[in-house]
Amino acid sequence: MGPEPRCQDVDRGRPETRTWVNEAIRKVDADANRSADTHLHVFPLPVEWGVDLYLKDESVHPTGSLKHRLARSLFLYALCNGWIGEGTTVIEASSGSTAVSEAYFARLLGLPFVAVMPRSTSREKVELIEYYGARCHLVDDPATIYDESRRLADESGGHFMDQFTYAERATDWRGNNNIAESVFEQMAHEAHPVPAWVVVGAGTGGTSATIGRYVRFQRLDTRVCVVDPENSAFFPSWISGDVSATSGTSSRIEGIGRPRVEPSFVPTIVDRMIAVPDAASMAAMRWASTLTGRLVGGSTGTNLWGALRLVAEMCAAGQSGSVVTLLCDGGERYAHTYYDDAWLAAAGLDIGPYTKTLEQFAATGEWHEPT
Ligand SMILES: Cc1ncc(COP(=O)(O)O)c(C=O)c1O
Repeated sequence: MGPEPRCQDVDRGRPETRTWVNEAIRKVDADANRSADTHLHVFPLPVEWGVDLYLKDESVHPTGSLKHRLARSLFLYALCNGWIGEGTTVIEASSGSTAVSEAYFARLLGLPFVAVMPRSTSREKVELIEYYGARCHLVDDPATIYDESRRLADESGGHFMDQFTYAERATDWRGNNNIAESVFEQMAHEAHPVPAWVVVGAGTGGTSATIGRYVRFQRLDTRVCVVDPENSAFFPSWISGDVSATSGTSSRIEGIGRPRVEPSFVPTIVDRMIAVPDAASMAAMRWASTLTGRLVGGSTGTNLWGALRLVAEMCAAGQSGSVVTLLCDGGERYAHTYYDDAWLAAAGLDIGPYTKTLEQFAATGEWHEPT
């Protein structure tokens, strides 16, 4: 018989590290406590149609997009997992919006931050990230942002935040002021408080996952429709069921549409998908900006095209009710791209026929897409 096994005890926790983490979490909470919730706007449609459309304005977050909520959740998730501590370099792979929001929180916590992004990312977003004191690491091939982020994290002993993997996990889908809870609370006094549809795009897939889980958890009849731009893997994958589907190129609508099906995309909570031509997204983006007097971003155009199509369907069926979609970020970020006619022409995007669809719809309530 060998010697009695001895008790072995290894204490890794250094109390002082918890002091820093506790203070970091207090700062993130305090930031949330100082922030007001985002508005829910009524989108101007003829009342007699009997269908109300709402825009959840996420552009009014301190960092200008829906990604402010995700960045806060990802930092809390990493802090509470013991993945980041005092002096940790934080790295993120992003199409821009998430990096802007994460750079804000990294500065709040006094941490170095590196954003790994495609070189095509709008200049406005790069300048915003640098404004928060972060470094932009631009790559030519968008498909390499994941491996490049992991390489930089290994090299610096830092932490790769990896929004595409953790977005669906870091966000509390049961409540805690997630985007769904905020929308439904703000709909409570409306004529149709439970929308027939919530329409969103997918980048990580985290927003659609949160909304889809929330409506099921609350036992609501609301259905989730995900809109997808050109060159994205989500729509073909959702149709075929093949989660390994890829598109081989990246989307032109910043923030949504991905060359691969991201881990945070949950296809089983998606009730319907609409593939939206990029010219239609651009037309809806500009049309809505004129109508509302507020410049909106490209992915908001994609959302609106899908939402208006569903409103038209409900009107045609004589169904009354409400539809909600997201204003994901402001159009100021796209002054040199989507709002530049030369950029649209160079991209071969003719918005004329789609603008006609929208104007005709506003005038008649009938939806006729260009053939
Ligand atoms: C402007 C914009 N709209 C929409 C989305 C999609 O959000 P999600 O990543 O939650 O799917 C993103 C994501 O990056 C975005 O940046």
